Amino acid sequence: MEISDDLLEINPNLQSQVAYVGKGKHKAVLVDNFYKDLEKILQATAKLSYTDHYDLTGNFPGARAQINISTQPVIDAISKLWGSQLYSFFQPQLAVFQALTTRDYRLNIGQRAPHIDPDITALIYLNPEHSCTGGTALYRHRPTGLERLPRLPITPDQEVWQLAERLELSNEFFQTEEGYENFQRSMIFNPLFAAKGNNYINDGNEFWELLQLVEMKPNRLAIFDARVFHSQYIKEDPYDKVFRMNQIIYLTAEQNTMRTGSSLA
Ligand SMILES: [Fe+2]
Repeated sequence: MEISDDLLEINPNLQSQVAYVGKGKHKAVLVDNFYKDLEKILQATAKLSYTDHYDLTGNFPGARAQINISTQPVIDAISKLWGSQLYSFFQPQLAVFQALTTRDYRLNIGQRAPHIDPDITALIYLNPEHSCTGGTALYRHRPTGLERLPRLPITPDQEVWQLAERLELSNEFFQTEEGYENFQRSMIFNPLFAAKGNNYINDGNEFWELLQLVEMKPNRLAIFDARVFHSQYIKEDPYDKVFRMNQIIYLTAEQNTMRTGSSLA
């Protein structure tokens, strides 16, 4: 099938709502009936070739495929719904689709805990009604009370700085990307905090508190502050029979932070 630029046409009759999640009232925008022709998108995405190569999927627990069509009109529509201009985090931003299955799956530690993305993430659920269950959930990290990790530079007025002070940690952790990574790996994403067994974090555990489940609905767009801890919310049924399909767009509010490539969970 020929894929044309109007594949990702926006529905003029979409419905949008804003939610504020957690103590930090982190913004999330939910938009129903986002695309004009979901069926056409599903047909097109069913014919793509998906790869689970790290370069494209990062630590996402599934496979991805991309179509070389401009996502700028979609990003502009998302910006309007979000309330300020957003920019693609990766350049070029192709249309990236992801397919996930729970057939013979094996999650690694990182996939059994919430994660964060570069800045703002837009996710469009593509499954038809009968295979929509679970969704995307936002979490609070119980041991520290943090709901979100800001990007560098970290300043003394921020909660994470105060946490480091309280724990008598050197603020050298916040001087470099590598230092901050180490801080996150040991304090926040410690392997001991992940879900046990071969399970997504779903309803949370003694270390991660579920704040809000964004329910998966056909043709629903979720735009959220992806510095808030989040994860797929997936219980096995029915994704051992059909793929869980969505489109992912990594965005940022700052124009000059784009990176090349496209891999992230
Ligand atoms: Fe994410």
